[in-house]
Amino acid sequence: MKKIDVILGLQWGDEGKGKIVDYLAADYDIVARFQGGPNAGHTLKFGGNKYVLHTVPSGIFRENLINLIGNGVVLDPVVFQRELRSLEQSNVQFHSRLLVSRKAHLILPTHRWLDAASEAHKGKAKIGSTLKGIGPTYMDKTGRNGLRVGDIAAPNFQAQYNALKNKHLELLKIYPAIDFDLETAEQAWFESLDTLRALPFVDGEYYLNDALAAGKKILAEGAQGSMLDIDFGTYPFVTSSNTITAGVCTGLGVAPQRIGRVIGITKAYCTRVGGGPFPTEQDNETGEQLRQLGMEFGSTTGRPRRCGWIDLPQLRYTILLNGVTELCMTKIDVLNTFSELQVATMYRYDGVETSNMPFDLCNTPMEIRYETYPGWATELDDVKTFDALPAPARNFISDLEKYLGVPFTMISTGPEREKLIVR
Ligand code: GDP
Ligand code: IMO
Ligand code: MG
Repeated sequence: MKKIDVILGLQWGDEGKGKIVDYLAADYDIVARFQGGPNAGHTLKFGGNKYVLHTVPSGIFRENLINLIGNGVVLDPVVFQRELRSLEQSNVQFHSRLLVSRKAHLILPTHRWLDAASEAHKGKAKIGSTLKGIGPTYMDKTGRNGLRVGDIAAPNFQAQYNALKNKHLELLKIYPAIDFDLETAEQAWFESLDTLRALPFVDGEYYLNDALAAGKKILAEGAQGSMLDIDFGTYPFVTSSNTITAGVCTGLGVAPQRIGRVIGITKAYCTRVGGGPFPTEQDNETGEQLRQLGMEFGSTTGRPRRCGWIDLPQLRYTILLNGVTELCMTKIDVLNTFSELQVATMYRYDGVETSNMPFDLCNTPMEIRYETYPGWATELDDVKTFDALPAPARNFISDLEKYLGVPFTMISTGPEREKLIVR
């Protein structure tokens, strides 16, 4: 039986997953999203156009390829409808190729408001949520109150919706007041369900396992990054799903022994958007330079991303959690003009030097040991092979591989689909 390959982010999100999924999708029959929701923003660039996907898997632009939204995803039908309209405007024929798992949970308008109210309540300690309703929707899922895509077909769906909405309206009373227009939002939400209904609903677990048995090639697309994982990320500054490889099993209904290649993506540096600890953050001119050169502004919220150097203890941790079999480095071109680069290689806390993450990154005072690498001060636009990279770039990558114990099989040299070195 075939195995399912996985692509996911090893940092705090925005590693360039969309670009790599779109590139690799050409070799697959199915691309499946396994967790997250419209908090994700995956950017694809080809043919002179740019597309940002939030809920739709990044294989949608490859003709004939099936795209599946898995049960682990939380879906806002209003955002989804907007995304589909924009695909229609780009003449993408998706109607028979975009499948939705019946067990995916629905984001209600009141989930979004609960997200906003919870953040307002936290004040300065806020998570920096994307305010898409992700946390409250996953809370209703684990609290066994949620509504699922398959429930739309139930005769008492309206009653189920009303019960959950009314509970949310009660809950909203304990939080700082926020502005919302229930009637308008509700109307848009119910209208958007028609767009959702027009797509095939599937029992994703049977669909994907049958596809594997029939020899189909499947790629699982992660959202967010491993450092935002609900269990292993920088809790509480995390998202509300398991973003790591284990999330593929629960978010799609495939068994652990069905996992094949695990491709972990890291930028050549590091970014994070929202609150929470970030050991190698450069809250200075270097960070500003990375932000400007890397155009580090959120794909979903437009917020400036915090920038810093690549962090090897952090990557070692997420490689371990995910069982990464190969690495992909993106945005190496952003470093083109730097005369020197820094790489974090070791932490020091509680009086010892270690490459392990502390229990509580938020409250552990830590020193970081950096190694300095020479830059390459050259454009990489025309570089098509690893050997053609300037020697300092090759050296940088080879040293990282030695430290991390996993090979870099792909190096991305620009946002466009074709700007990729495959080894
Ligand atoms: P994702 O959430 O992991 O899919 O990543 P995002 O799309 O949120 O953010 C990555 C950003 O970097 C997007 O604007 C991409 O177009 C861009 N990008 C991806 N790969 C590269 C690269 O190799 N070089 C440069 N300069 N930009 C890249
Ligand atoms: P992609 O898939 C970067 C961050 C938010 C916030 C925290 C919790 O594009 O890599 P949430 O809305 O999930 O409750 O926010 O997680 N976050 C992301 N950061 N990329 C993402 O997705 C993110 N999705 C959520 O900024 O700090
Ligand atoms: Mg993103």
